[in-house]
Amino acid sequence: MNEDRSLAGAIALVTGAASGIGLATAQALARSGAIVWLVDRDEERLAAAVASCEGGAQPVAWHLDVTSETGWSALFAAIDERHGRLDILVNNAGLAHFQPLAQTSLADWRTSLAVNGDSVFLGTRTMLPLLARHPARAERSTSAIINVSSVRAMIGGANFASYCAAKGAVRMFTKAVALECAALGERIRVNSVHPGFIDTPLARAALDPEALARRVSAIPLQRGGTAEEVAAAILFLASEASSYMTGAELVVDGGTLAG
Ligand SMILES: NC(=O)c1ccc[n+]([C@@H]2O[C@H](COP(=O)([O-])OP(=O)(O)OC[C@H]3O[C@@H](n4cnc5c(N)ncnc54)[C@H](O)[C@@H]3O)[C@@H](O)[C@H]2O)c1
Repeated sequence: MNEDRSLAGAIALVTGAASGIGLATAQALARSGAIVWLVDRDEERLAAAVASCEGGAQPVAWHLDVTSETGWSALFAAIDERHGRLDILVNNAGLAHFQPLAQTSLADWRTSLAVNGDSVFLGTRTMLPLLARHPARAERSTSAIINVSSVRAMIGGANFASYCAAKGAVRMFTKAVALECAALGERIRVNSVHPGFIDTPLARAALDPEALARRVSAIPLQRGGTAEEVAAAILFLASEASSYMTGAELVVDGGTLAG
C-alpha cells in the first residue's frame, strides 16, 4: 500500500482508465489521495476499474468515446458542477494499428489519428478552463496535463506508420500547448510521457508472439515494462515534485532510446 498522500483532495481525470497504463495510473492517483474520474468507452471494464481503486476518495466512472466533441462537453459540465475545477488531466486512451502501409485504409489512418490524436486535442481544449481554476492552496501551485505519447514519436517502426504519425503529433502538440499556457500566465504544466514496450493488452494485440519476443530481447533492460512503472512517471508529472517541468518529454523505455 502506497502511503504517499501528496495528492489528497486533487481532482484528476484519466482517459483509457479501464485497462493497462490508464488503469494503473488511476489506481496510483487514488492511492495518493486524488478524486479520480475514470473515463473509457468500455463500460464493463470501467466498472471493474473503479471498484479496484483504493484510497478513500470516491472515484467516478464516466463512459466516453474520447473522439466525441459533444461527449467531452458533457464531461466538462459534470466535473464543473461537481468540483468547479480540475487539477490533473491524463490523456492516455489510445490504440495501435500494426499493419503494412499498403493494407492501411484511409479509414484505419483516420481512426488512428482520431483515437490517439483528436482525443488529446479535444480533452486538452475542453478541460483548459477547469484546469485554469486553481485552488488557493499552498500545497498545489500548478495544475498538470500529461499526454501519453510513445517512443514511436521519436523513432519510427515498420508497419506502424499511422501510430507513429499520431504519437508524433501528440509530442509536438504537448510542447506547443505548454508554451501557450506559459505565455498566457496560466499555471498549467503540460508534459508528455513516452513508454517503450509495456506489457498491456494493447502491446500484446499489436505484435505476434515472434515479434514480441524479438522486441523484448532488443530492450537494454531485457524485459518489457509494467503499466505501474509508467504510472509512476505520470504521477511524478502530476505532482508538485515536477513543478519546474513543462513542455518536457519523459521516456520510460528500459533504455531503448539510449542506444
Ligand atoms: N503498451 C505499450 O507498449 C505502449 C507503448 C507506448 C505507448 N502506449 C500508449 O499508452 C496508452 C495506453 O495504452 P495501454 O497499453 O495501456 O493500452 P490498453 O489497450 O491496455 O488500454 C487502452 C484503453 O483505452 C481505451 N480506449 C481506446 N479507444 C478509446 C476511445 N475511443 N474512447 C475511450 N477509450 C478508449 C480502451 O478501452 C482501453 O481501456 C495508449 O495511448 C498507448 O498508445 C502504450
